[in-house]
Amino acid sequence: MSTSTIEERFTLTTTDDEIFINNFSEDVKIGLTSESKYLPFVYFYDHIGSQLFEKICELPEYYLTRAETNILESNADDIASQFSEETVLVELGSGSSTKTRILIETFLERQSLAHYTPIDVSLQMLEESSYSLLREYPDLEINAIAARYNEGIEHMNIRNDQQNLITWLGSSIGNLERSEVTTLLQHIQETMHPDDRFLVGIDLRKDKTIIENAYNDTQGITAEFNLNLLTHVNRELGGNFNTENFDHHAVYNEEVGRIEMYLISNIDQKVFIRELDLDVSFAANESIHTENSFKYSLDEIDMLAGQTGLYVEQQWFDPARLFSLNLFAPVAG
Ligand code: AVI
Repeated sequence: MSTSTIEERFTLTTTDDEIFINNFSEDVKIGLTSESKYLPFVYFYDHIGSQLFEKICELPEYYLTRAETNILESNADDIASQFSEETVLVELGSGSSTKTRILIETFLERQSLAHYTPIDVSLQMLEESSYSLLREYPDLEINAIAARYNEGIEHMNIRNDQQNLITWLGSSIGNLERSEVTTLLQHIQETMHPDDRFLVGIDLRKDKTIIENAYNDTQGITAEFNLNLLTHVNRELGGNFNTENFDHHAVYNEEVGRIEMYLISNIDQKVFIRELDLDVSFAANESIHTENSFKYSLDEIDMLAGQTGLYVEQQWFDPARLFSLNLFAPVAG
């Protein structure tokens, strides 16, 4: 067992937090003054939003987290056996690192020391989850990076001699437009060594009812999560949104293969946002588009890999085949 202190096993690289604040006011202004109003999904995740998301993951209707955890638990040994002792486990959008614990534990059962590089925009979340992991696992080293995916990948010391297992779990891929995913995967592929691998959790296309129920839970937690975006604007930018005047709406667009989430104004109303000196008018039934969550078919996963210089080396499913875990490898040469 390592005798180093937690501090000796932890480094944290931060990017400029100002960038996030400036972008928030700018993004809210652009989104709420555009012809079809929208707000970027990244702003769901303030402190309350992150806690609400943790609750969503435990909802009976939200099958995604349970299915992915089941796949990881059943296959972690198989996955870990393919990597060398010195492998660095890199995680994009690590959040509370709950699912990654399964991989960390499996690596630690096989080797004396494990290396973990979580990348997340929430500095607070990174510190809390890193310290909790370091307390729990004395043989774990963490080099955390507070950044968005692209900046995180830039910072990531990936051009090293060690093998990297980059993970992107929770179907976070689903919240990006398909074209954005292609660009990001190309970027990641360019940073990969031939023996690096990219493990991605992807929610699958399936029956509309199962998907719509997952985003319209009976306890109303997803509605709270969606409405919290307005509370976030109120708190950070001095808005006067009354959340009672908006309804949560989530619908599956089968053709495009995505859940679309909206906040719908239930009256004619005007909202003022002090920091932006902005009046926003809403007609009754007018919507703010807050999120897309794309689902993939197996053909779409293969095509995505093909477009980005990767191929699907291995693929695992939960018993009901609701969700997939994909191990992408760079195409040789
Ligand atoms: C984080 N992301 C993968 C979730 C999803 O399913 O798209 C966010 C979420 N939105 C509503 N419920 C969960």
